[in-house]
Amino acid sequence: MKLDNSNMKLTDWQPLITQAKKSALNAYAPYSKFHVGAAAINTDNQIFSGCNVENASYGLTVCAERNCLSFAVNQQSSQIKALLVYTQQEKLTPPCGACRQVIAEFLSQDALVASANHLDHMKVWTVAELLPDAFTPQLLS
Ligand code: THU
Repeated sequence: MKLDNSNMKLTDWQPLITQAKKSALNAYAPYSKFHVGAAAINTDNQIFSGCNVENASYGLTVCAERNCLSFAVNQQSSQIKALLVYTQQEKLTPPCGACRQVIAEFLSQDALVASANHLDHMKVWTVAELLPDAFTPQLLS
């Protein structure tokens, strides 16, 4: 596994997997039936999680990753160092495009994002790999 400045070891992902899996059970996904949980860990090793919340007006659906990060903001979280998305799908779920932009807002370019499933499969990316040349807050200063 790649080493980066978030210093996530393989065992460090386990609590995120556990929490994201729990959150996936809370998913409100009556339309897609695609249940997603996400969990993020900050530099104080606090974990935040979220699930996808759909809407009868489909476009108002909010993904698990964005709900997770919004929750962390509301808890006045310190810097998020890694985020994991969990689905009970054989094919691992990568964050959608909108979530990649929101992830780039709150995680550094070399922080890690992972996807895991019920089969103990896992794939890890850096934020930069998911969204190269991101439009980030630094560009507004
Ligand atoms: N979804 C997520 O929550 N995260 C992803 O990374 C991919 C998609 C949700 C949105 C929608 O509720 C359902 O999965 C199907 O797209």
